[in-house]
This record gives sequence, C-alpha cells and structure tokens, in this order.
Amino acid sequence: MDPGETIAALERERERGLAVIREAASLEALRDAEVAILGRRAPVPSIQRSLGDVPPEERPALGRAINEVFEALREALAERERELRAEREGAVAEADAIDVTLPGRRLPMGALHVLTQTERAMVDAFVALGYRVMEGPEVETDWYNFEALNIPPDHPARTVQDTLYLDVPDAPDLLLRTQTSPMQIKAMEVQPPPLYVVVPGRTYRNDTLDATHSPVFHQVEGLAVDEGLSLADMKGTLEAWARAMFSADQRVRLRPDYFPFVEPGAQVDVSCFACDGSGCRICGNGWLEIMGAGMVHPKVLENGGVDPERYTGYAWGIGVERVAMLRHGIPDIRLFYEGDVRFLEQFAGGTV
Ligand code: DAH
Repeated sequence: MDPGETIAALERERERGLAVIREAASLEALRDAEVAILGRRAPVPSIQRSLGDVPPEERPALGRAINEVFEALREALAERERELRAEREGAVAEADAIDVTLPGRRLPMGALHVLTQTERAMVDAFVALGYRVMEGPEVETDWYNFEALNIPPDHPARTVQDTLYLDVPDAPDLLLRTQTSPMQIKAMEVQPPPLYVVVPGRTYRNDTLDATHSPVFHQVEGLAVDEGLSLADMKGTLEAWARAMFSADQRVRLRPDYFPFVEPGAQVDVSCFACDGSGCRICGNGWLEIMGAGMVHPKVLENGGVDPERYTGYAWGIGVERVAMLRHGIPDIRLFYEGDVRFLEQFAGGTV
C-alpha cells in the first residue's frame, strides 16, 4: 500500500465522516453514523487493520495519522451527541412547560344563599347587643301561634295571616306557623326574665307567589323581658341594630300600628339607605318600613308565665326577604327561591 495514498484516503474518510456526523439529525441517526464510521467494516478501522502490511519504518507516521482521524471522528461524535441531547431536552421541556403567566383555573365554590347571609347578619347584629339565639318548630299549635299571642279564634288578625293548617288525625289545631312570634311564649316558658332573645326562622302563609309575596318566607323575631323596660329601650335597641346592619348614621322612627300581642304597637321605619332620607325610587318618602314592634301586651306576658306587674317587655318581627331586597335592590321575591345561579352567584362573595 502506498503510504501517500493511504494518508489521502484517511483525509477523505475524515471529511466524509465529519459530514455524516454533522448531518445526523437525531440521536438514532447519530448511532447509525457511528457504526458506519467506526464499525468493524468501516473504512478507517479497515485501514488500521492493514497497518501490518505497511513497511515498519512507515508505520509510526501512518499510525499517528490513523489515531488523529479516530480522535477527530470520536470528538465530533461526542460533540454532536451533546448537541442532539440538548435539543431533545429542550423539546421535552417545551412540551411539558406550564405557563405560569396565566391565572389558575378556579374551582367553583359554593356560598351561602343570600337569604341565609342576610338572616345571619341580622341575627349577628342582635347578638352583638347581648341577645341569645333561639329556634323553634315550624309546626305549631293554634295556642302558640294565635291564642297565647292574644289573637282569639274570631279575631280579624287571623284573616290577615292566612293560615295553612295540617291535616293530622287527633291533632286538629296543628298549623304551619304564620310568624315567629309563637317563640315569644316558648322563650318565656323556658327562661325567666331577664330575657333577651332573637329567633330566626321560616314562616308560612296561604299566599299566592307573586313579586312581593311568597307562601314561605323568613322572619327574625326579638323579645326582651326585664324590669323597667320602656319604649325608649326598644327604640334605642332597634336603632343600634339598624346602625350595625345598614350604616352608622341610620335613623329610626316609630309610627303607631296595631298588633294584638303588643300595646302600644308600632311600625318601625329606618331612614332610606339608598337616598339617606331625602326620598327616592326605593323609599318614596325617605323612610323604609322594616318591621313591626311594640311593648309586649300584659296578657301575652301572663300567657308566658311572666308577672306583668313586675316586668315589661318589648318585641319585634322583621322580614328577612324584605331586608335582603332593600339591601341589594332586589325587585322580585321569587328570585330568592328559583335557584337561578346567575342570580345567586352575585352574592357568592358574602360569608361562606
Ligand atoms: N308577627 C308579626 C307579623 O308577622 C310581626 C310582629 C309585629 C312581631 C310586632 C312582633 C311585634 O314581635 O311586636 O306580621
């Protein structure tokens, strides 16, 4: 073999090998290239094997040349492998990448119904004034719902509160309570004065559902019985409550009204929180009727086992739906009960 020619062949193989390595587009292609360049049948290893045929004096120079080519090719293979690995890792990283610049997906969270939120706010404001919370049954007897509250069978107040009676054999006077007031009697029965309680609860009347009436609705009843309580205590209490509920400069006024279980009885108005009392679309004249109240009738105290000579009391009843409608500008009571999420989720920011 002519050494000059062998050197030239080695040079060609180096160039060809380097080109094949450069062009390998994947790690798999590079592995094939390695076999083609350095495998047993590849040209450079064949040349190396034929070194034995070369005259001894020329072997060292040729051996060095062969080693150089091997080294150059191995280096090029290693370098290309590093490049391809880096590319592959980059591609994987890109495919697995998480875009943290976008806001996360929120899971829909439940929230309390706007009526529950309102009722809790109403109750909390009384609890802050020292009132205890009591709850009572929705099924009542005629005695607790009417008679004990000074509403005898032929009393006209009964027709105002159109009652749903239950058809239970041997219990002819069972009804769905038309008001939370029966709990006044029950509270007095279980707790001698001083007594300060609020009673949230569901109430029922035989009303047709329309924009302002619902056969099922909610009230928050209140009762205070103690020595020396007067109408001034009642007004102060309700004003403090209205200020906690609505706004710090809320005013309260009492207008005479009639409820059989109080004497005197009053309609309680709060200054309109939309227009602050100047008169607007919501209130008309600057005042919002918000509850019935009054000094507990002596007969009612007696029916609760309380001595009316020694104690006086005041009581009130507030409609939860009405407060929620006024607070949030809700025009139709039916929205509360229809379960339309588009309506309900507007109040999802409230207490959960
Ligand atoms: N129970 C009455 C109603 O449902 C509201 C009411 C008025 C409650 C005056 C009271 C009160 O405690 O003193 O219409």
